[in-house]
Formats: sequence, structure tokens, C-alpha cells
Amino acid sequence: MTSVYGPVADWQSDFDHADPEYNRNIHAIWEDLKAAGCPIARTERYGGAWLPLTHEMVHEIAYDTDHFTSRTVVVGQIKPHEVDHLPEFASPPAPIGGAPPITSDPPFHQHARRLLLPAFAPKKIDPLRPEIERMCNELIDKMGDKDAVDAAVEYSQHIPVMIIAHMLGLPLEDADRFRSWVHLVLESVNAPREEREGRFHEFNEYLETHIRDHIENPREDLINDLLNAELMGTKLTSEMVGGMVTLILIAGIDTTWSGIGNSIWHLATNAVDRRRLAANPDMIPVAVEEFLRAYAPVTMARLVTEDHEFHGVQMKQHDWVLLPFPAANRDPEQFENPTEVVIDREVNRHSAFGLGIHRCIGSNLARLEMNVAVKVFLERFPDFELVTDEETVWSTGQVRGPRRLPVRVLSRR
Ligand code: HEM
Repeated sequence: MTSVYGPVADWQSDFDHADPEYNRNIHAIWEDLKAAGCPIARTERYGGAWLPLTHEMVHEIAYDTDHFTSRTVVVGQIKPHEVDHLPEFASPPAPIGGAPPITSDPPFHQHARRLLLPAFAPKKIDPLRPEIERMCNELIDKMGDKDAVDAAVEYSQHIPVMIIAHMLGLPLEDADRFRSWVHLVLESVNAPREEREGRFHEFNEYLETHIRDHIENPREDLINDLLNAELMGTKLTSEMVGGMVTLILIAGIDTTWSGIGNSIWHLATNAVDRRRLAANPDMIPVAVEEFLRAYAPVTMARLVTEDHEFHGVQMKQHDWVLLPFPAANRDPEQFENPTEVVIDREVNRHSAFGLGIHRCIGSNLARLEMNVAVKVFLERFPDFELVTDEETVWSTGQVRGPRRLPVRVLSRR
């Protein structure tokens, strides 16, 4: 795809979250910005966006739903107010938005959120453990006895898709299409609008077809539950079900794929931690929390609702604001030795799953998938290492994780 914007010249005044260098060097870029006395960077790209880097600022924005709307949470070429008059683009305005509850503001938000919570409660998620374990082992069996394997392409990218497709009642054979739509929504934001439109149309048509099929042939799954659910006394429209399914597909796949990949990347580049965890699998749950803190995959966004001053900068209505939870997780005011990855960190109140009313609904599932994926990988490959840094390919955009992660297998079981 063509790019609208070229390479970044200056991260302080021209940053771009979709520049391939951003995710590759994210922590160094943020450290340099902070060292240069710039805790909140600005760019004119995408019609104007801010990047606050302290825990205090991220926390404040996440809780201030009056000044910061969630109507769209992905910074891209189109701002809703610019296309509201064009029916082919217009999504429902705040407080509902196109993919409730993540695109919703209060008071509607909590009603939409309540509909999804039961499906992700521990009593629904915990029983999935044996199935996830089986899938992870099967993926490793498929790798055969090669000297090097790609832990992203052959492993992490498959695990969340299998679970989400099953929960929603969508065919697993469409896994590649799901991943291509995830790429479309989150990664290709620097491509011209015209190039992306057709793909969005294809995504919507796919969902419409499957929702129609669920209406005609009811079965037990989350799409079915949503079609039968009531929101404030009325049944959901199929557009709203489509919006929620879009959210679950996107939020449930890329995030956990990245979380698993980031954990394996850390282990592949840190022999001491790798050997310690392989020898002490009981430590994995605490280590996973540290991987979530130190390599939090998800940055969300907000739109400014009215002109106002924020920590010394003048924000204008319709400016974008990125909410880098990963930067909040590395704030020295919040964590001791924040840049160090301490796999047995005792106090770890990280923000990887967000802050405030939109805190992640899927955190039980994400934690389970990450724990099982790391455990099985270490059981089967007790020793492994990164092939080379250059061959690791990072995602672009607001969800950060390896998309190619070649590792050399040093021992296997
Ligand atoms: C490691 C994996 C994951 C991470 C790091 C993560 C992170 C986040 C974050 C930071 C938010 C807050 C968004 C905001 O403030 O705008 C969020 C919201 C959300 N996440 Fe996750 N997520 C993960 C996995 C999942 C999974 C597996 C699902 C479900 C299948 C899921 C479903 C959601 C939903 C539905 C919301 C919106 C909640 C609301 O608006 O009230 N996430 N997630």
C-alpha cells in the first residue's frame, strides 16, 4: 500500500505511530523525548495529534470522558466530524460509536459493556485452559524438527484467532482474512483512504453475511447471545451486533498475539530469564504480568471534545490524543526501575489493560492465553534464542508486537 506520510524527521514535532521505526524503537524514542523535556509530543500528521508520555497524563485522560471522547480510538486519516455528512462513512455519533463499548462514552457505554462482560468472566474463560494447551502443543508439533522456527508466524498469531473464532461462531478457515482485517484497521492507517475503503466494505459484508446466517440458523455462541440480548429494553440492531463483533475480532486477536510474541521475544533475548522460567514454571504467571507491564502492546486514542489547556499545551477540539498505556507502565513515578524487566516483580499495578471505564473486558482470556502459550513454548523448547534482531519484524500502529520472530531452537522436548 502507498503511504500518505513519509519517514519521521523529528519525533518531538512530527511523530508518526505508524512509521515502521516507531514500534521498532518505541522505548528509546520515548526516553529521548522525555530526556529532551518533551513529555507530550505533537504531530500535524493525521490532522493533528498529541502523545502524552507520563502515567499521570495517561491516567487523567482515560478518566476524563468529558474532554476526551472514545468515538474513534484508532488514529487514522479520517476524523469523524469531517465525514459525518457522508452516509458511506458516518458511524453512529458519541455516545454510541461504531464498535460499542470501546467507541462509546457515558452513559451509554456501561449498558453496552454489561452485555459483553458475562462472556469473559472467569467461570466462562477458565475452562478453556485444556483446549488452549492442546492448540499450543499442536502448533509446536506442526513445526517439526527445524533448527529455527518463527514464533510469531507459526505460533503467536494463531492462538487468539482460534479462540475468538470459536467464541463468535465464525469459521476458523477464515483466520487469514481476520488477520488481514486486523491489519487493515490497526496497521495500515498511513495508507490513503481510497485504498482502504474497499477492504472495509469487504469486512462489513462478511460480518453482515454471518450475522444474517446466525439469525436464520440460531446456535450457541456469542453472536447468537448478542442477537438475543436487550439493551435498555430493546433488542440490538444487526448494525450494533456487527459493531460489537468487529470490536471482539480486532481487540481479541492482535492484542494477545502481540502479548504472546512480546513475551517470547523477551525470553529469546534474555538467557537468564529464559532458563529461570523454564526451570521454574510456577513463576510464569508473575512473569507474564511483568511482560504485560514492560511490553504492554496496546495504545488507544481519544478525540478532544473542546478546546482546553492540558499540562501546558493548548488542545483543540477534534485533535487526536494517543493514550500510550505502555509509556505509563514505564514511568519512574509509578514503578521502581521501570526500564528493567524483573520477572518476579512483587508490586506490579500496571496499566496494560487500560485505565478507567474502558478497562479491558478480555483480560481474563488474554492472561490465560499468554500464560498457557509461554508455558507450552518453554516446555517444548526449554532453550532457544533470537536468530537476529534484523529479522524480527514489528507491527506498525497502536498495537505493538512482533509479526516475524525467528528463533533458533537450542533444545526441544
Ligand atoms: C494482551 C492482550 C490485551 C491487551 C493488552 C488489551 C488491552 C486493552 C486496553 C488497553 C483497553 C482499553 C481501551 C481504551 O481505553 O480505549 C482494552 C479494552 C477492551 N478490550 Fe482488551 N486487551 C487485550 C486482550 C483482549 C481480548 C482477548 C479481548 C476479547 C476478546 C479484549 C476485549 C476488549 C474490549 C471489548 C475492550 C473495550 C472495553 C470497553 O470499552 O469498556 N481485549 N483492552
